Amino acid sequence: VKNQFSVINASKASFDTIYTQPDPRAYYSVLGELDYMIPDLARPVIRQLLSARHRSQPKTAGKLRVLDVGCSYGINAAMHKYPVTVSTLNRRYTRREMRLLGPEELIGLDRHYYASWPDIGVANFTGLDSSGPAVNYGLQVGLLEGGVVRNLEQESLSSEDQARIAGTDIILSTGCIGYVTEVTYQKLMQALPHTPWVISFVLRMFPYEPFIRVLSDHGLVTEKLTSTSFAQRRFRDADEFQRTLQVLRERGVDPSGIESQGLLHAELWVSRPAEEVQKRPLAKLLTISNSLSHSTGARYVMVEQGGANYVVMEP
Ligand SMILES: C[S@@+](CC[C@H](N)C(=O)[O-])C[C@H]1O[C@@H](n2cnc3c(N)ncnc32)[C@H](O)[C@@H]1O
Repeated sequence: VKNQFSVINASKASFDTIYTQPDPRAYYSVLGELDYMIPDLARPVIRQLLSARHRSQPKTAGKLRVLDVGCSYGINAAMHKYPVTVSTLNRRYTRREMRLLGPEELIGLDRHYYASWPDIGVANFTGLDSSGPAVNYGLQVGLLEGGVVRNLEQESLSSEDQARIAGTDIILSTGCIGYVTEVTYQKLMQALPHTPWVISFVLRMFPYEPFIRVLSDHGLVTEKLTSTSFAQRRFRDADEFQRTLQVLRERGVDPSGIESQGLLHAELWVSRPAEEVQKRPLAKLLTISNSLSHSTGARYVMVEQGGANYVVMEP
């Protein structure tokens, strides 16, 4: 499976350096240029799922505990707790004044920035990421209540890590399946004393079946939201566009009308105990219709003419 994932990853543009900076400026400017939009589109869905899980626990239990796998700088926590959007943050970090600051100064300002909003969320966040600087940022600015810096594809959880994640109610991941395989989830599930719900937004080119098997071994039933997919970002260049369409076709996933319109798309997978799924199937739990409402910059699109396919730019 590891090999399968690396082959698919080769079709995708690599942004590795933006995840290991001491602050998220490069992350927001690079992804912002590609109309990174999935955090905004996923936000209401994540809110509905967390609220449903929150309602199912006793009132005295307090906030939920989310373990955000591949949390990076804590964007999911920011989106859930505060009324900020990707474009708000993108504008904040691309301002000339902000670009001139050192990381320590920026972190200080961000700590005040987040502290100045009311926390409207129902959850606390612990972040797991292989990037120490990203987790450190999330902790320092107060987006993350806990952090684990670990690459579970290769390493094991220490006893301190296990204590940090022990109370997890929900494992959440956006944009990280593919970087991590089911190996990471196997280790997490084994380490958790209570079986959590698992929410994953997964690009359509990555197979989720290996994860479903691991989660099923731990008593969870997985559903996919079939009514819609979630636009993630524009393709970086014509090369990434074409290679992605090819990988999708090789996997038997038809990109027509979806990725062929110039945006990478993710699907939502949710794993819960069987009785919960039976009581309230995923489609009943969520009230969303269509997630394709964001306007974007110029996109690569595939058009067919005279029996041949051409890549063109759609403004
Ligand atoms: C595409 S980013 C997604 C960030 C964020 N969740 C989002 O949706 O914007 C992928 C993240 O996965 C992290 N990552 C890559 N390999 C990892 C691994 N083996 N274990 C944990 N995190 C990893 C990277 O450091 C990066 O922060």
